[in-house]
Amino acid sequence: MPGIPVILGVGGGIAAYKSAELARALMEQGGEVQTVMTHAAQEFIRPLTFAALTGHKVITEMFSNASSEDVLSSSVEHIRVAQENRLLVVAPATADLLARFAQGLANDFLTTLYLAFQGPVLLCPAMNTAMWEHPATVRNLEILRERGHNILAPDDGRLACGTVGPGRLPEPARIASIAMGILRQRHDFDNETVLVTAGPTREPMDPVRFISNRSSGKMGYALAEAAMSRGARVILISGPVHLSAPEGVELIQVQTAHEMHHAVISRLDEASIIIKSAAVADYYVANVPAQKVKKTPMRLSLDLEPTPDILAEIGRRKGDQLLIGFAAETENLLQEARRKLQSKNCDMIVANLVSQDGVGFESEENEVLLVQRTGETLHLDKAPKRVIAGQVLDQALILRLALHKVEN
Ligand code: PMT
Repeated sequence: MPGIPVILGVGGGIAAYKSAELARALMEQGGEVQTVMTHAAQEFIRPLTFAALTGHKVITEMFSNASSEDVLSSSVEHIRVAQENRLLVVAPATADLLARFAQGLANDFLTTLYLAFQGPVLLCPAMNTAMWEHPATVRNLEILRERGHNILAPDDGRLACGTVGPGRLPEPARIASIAMGILRQRHDFDNETVLVTAGPTREPMDPVRFISNRSSGKMGYALAEAAMSRGARVILISGPVHLSAPEGVELIQVQTAHEMHHAVISRLDEASIIIKSAAVADYYVANVPAQKVKKTPMRLSLDLEPTPDILAEIGRRKGDQLLIGFAAETENLLQEARRKLQSKNCDMIVANLVSQDGVGFESEENEVLLVQRTGETLHLDKAPKRVIAGQVLDQALILRLALHKVEN
C-alpha cells in the first residue's frame, strides 16, 4: 500500500543530519517522503542520503539545466509537488527559511513550493538560542503561527555552537508522530479545556538548597501536547523542568507545592478535564532559615510539614469535571491506585510502578494501569510517553461518556 505523501523540506543548519533519521521515521509511521533540500542544506548532508533512504529523487534545484524539455517540466514541478503531497514538514527550519516563508519570498524550490502548497505545514525551527530569541525570528514565527501553521518549538539543551538553551531540533521520532498526527488530526477535544500538572516541585531548605524528586515532566508535557493537538485549550502548570512547553499551550511555571496548589485552584473552574501528573512533594520544610545553613559536625534534622493535597482538594470541589490523578508506586500498585481513586474522588488513576527499569520517572517510556471509577482497569503496555498520553486521553473521553450514562 502506498504511504501518505509528505514533503520533507530540509534547511541548512547543523541539525540537517537529523533529517535523514526523520525521513526514515516518517516512512516508519506511514509516510511516502519527497525530500526537498535548500542549497545550504546540501553543505551539511548529501541529497544521496535521502534518495537512498526514501527511494525518491531529491529536489535540490528550481530549474534543471539539462534539456529544454527538462526546463519546461521543472518550471512547473513545484506545482506538481505541491498538489501531490498532503503535508509539508520543514526540519530544520532555519531563521533564514522562517524569514523567507513569513515574507513570501520565492527564491528557491522550497520557498516557491511553500507558496504553492495548500495543505497543512509543520515547521520545526532549530538554530542558535540568540537567533531563536531575536525579535526578527519571534516576529516571523508570529506571522507563520497566525497563518495557521504548526510550529514545533525546539528543545532545550547544549547546541552545536556550545550554547545551552532552546534551539535543538526535537527527536525525529517525535517530529514524525506529530506530523502524522496532523494528517490524522482528530478534533475530539475541540470543546475541552484541559488543565495538566507536570514535573516535580522544589521545597526550599534554605536559600540555596531544596528537596525535590526525579520527575522530568516528560509524561505531563506529552499529555499537554496530545490534548493540544486534538483541539483542546490547554493550561499546563509545571514545576521546574528542562522542557519547552508545546506551542499554543498556556504555561504557568511554579516551584513549590504551595505555588502549584495556588495556581491549580485559581484556574480550576476553567477546566473540563484535570490531569494531575505532577510529582508534588508531600512535605515541605517548616521555618526555612533566611540564611544558608552552615555545615557543622552535628546531626541536622529537618522539621517537615505536610503540603496541601491538591488532588484531594480538587476531588472535594469538583462538579462534573473529569479528574484524572496519577499514582507513583514501588509496590502494591493496583491496591494503592484503588485507594487513591476512592479517597481523592478521582474518575481515573493512572498508576505507574516507578521501581521498574525504563518506565516512570525520567524515562522516555511508561507502562501504566488505568484504574477507573466505573470499576474497569486497563493495562497499557510499555510505550513512549506520547503514545501513553494519547491512550489516556482516549480513555478519558470513553470514561466521560460512561459516567454520563450512569448519572442520567
Ligand atoms: O515526569 P516524568 O519523569 O515523565 O515521570 C512521570 C511520573 C512518574 C512523575 C508520573 O507518571 C507520575 O506518576 N506522577 C505522579 C507522581 C506522584 O506524585 O504520585 P503520588 O502517588 O505521590 O501522588 C498521587 C497523586 O496526588 C498525583 O496525581 C499527584 O499529582 C497528587 N498529589 C500528590 C501530593 C500532593 N501534595 N498533591 C497532589 O495533588
